[in-house]
Amino acid sequence: IANTSDRKDTHLDLAMSPRAQAGVSNSMDRLRLTHCAMPECDLDAIDISTQFLGYDLSAPLFIGAMTGGTKRADRINAALAETAQSCSVALAVGSQRAGLENGSSLRHLRTLAPDIPIIGNLGAVQLAGKGGLDLAKAAIDDLQADAIAIHLNPLQEAVQPEGDRDWCGVAAAIEQAVTDLTVPVIVKEVGAGIGASLAHRLFEMGVMAVDVAGLGGTNWTRIEAARITDDDAALFAPFLDWGLPTLECLIDVCNRCPHHQIIASGGIRHGLDVAKALWVGASMVSMAGPMLKMLIDMSDDEVAIETLSPDTLSQALMDWQKQLALALFLTGSADIASLRQAEAELI
Ligand code: FNR
Repeated sequence: IANTSDRKDTHLDLAMSPRAQAGVSNSMDRLRLTHCAMPECDLDAIDISTQFLGYDLSAPLFIGAMTGGTKRADRINAALAETAQSCSVALAVGSQRAGLENGSSLRHLRTLAPDIPIIGNLGAVQLAGKGGLDLAKAAIDDLQADAIAIHLNPLQEAVQPEGDRDWCGVAAAIEQAVTDLTVPVIVKEVGAGIGASLAHRLFEMGVMAVDVAGLGGTNWTRIEAARITDDDAALFAPFLDWGLPTLECLIDVCNRCPHHQIIASGGIRHGLDVAKALWVGASMVSMAGPMLKMLIDMSDDEVAIETLSPDTLSQALMDWQKQLALALFLTGSADIASLRQAEAELI
């Protein structure tokens, strides 16, 4: 059984391979924003700026939670932090457990990215375990985090040979965290989605935002299945594309919990997907896998130390923002509030 650091590095490699993608079509393709041939607004004056956690951002976008706790992950996190700061989008880090346990700190990320929200991360089972609340406090403190995301990943854990199987007590731990922690709590999935009734329950517990993290992008069942024996992988074959497609859970959660902050993620590919998610009712949109693919230079896989290309990622972030602005323009929306009044249809 791999130790946590080896596992995290293997996850990074697998997350960038085509097998990490869901085998199902991307649900965002089922929504079409209606074209407006007479927009009555200026493309160069479209306003996509946003406020999140008290910061002014250039767009309602953030770099989704990815890994942490290894040397390689630290380099990646530093590059992500610098890029998020320079592009003025928010940053979520991956699980801080391994880092906190092996004494490596993420404190420098705050220095690299002083003007954007930084969101910490911990697994729900770790939060529910012995000392879980202290671990969450340490995670927030180390990062000087503006919020902490607690991830729910029962499917991923079930497929992992070393995964956590006992999910009893998680709800109570989240409720306790909401009361005791000094920063807002976000609850997210990792690619299998959060449905409307669970989201409703989480908001009743007082969580600030729910990130649906639905099916359609990075697929953890497929990633974990690639790390286990063929026999075990066969066992999980019927579950390879288990989960709630992002568009479906986003629509359901927004309908059920219209006055709450809902974050869209899971298979968001570009600025047009971002626009669609905002139209449905998301207040922020996050991308994980696509950010990693832009950052890590895959052109030469022989290099001993992998090459990071923050410029490529910055360029992609700018392109995604331009695509978002174009989608607003083509629906006749001068800003995000008017986009939500635009027409669209399910196809
Ligand atoms: C992740 N994700 C993740 N989520 C989390 O809450 N804690 C974590 O430690 C990680 N680790 C992680 C590593 C890597 C390499 C990737 C690509 C992703 C899940 C991530 O935040 C997101 O929910 C899913 O990847 C779905 O979004 P995308 O990738 O389809 O945009």
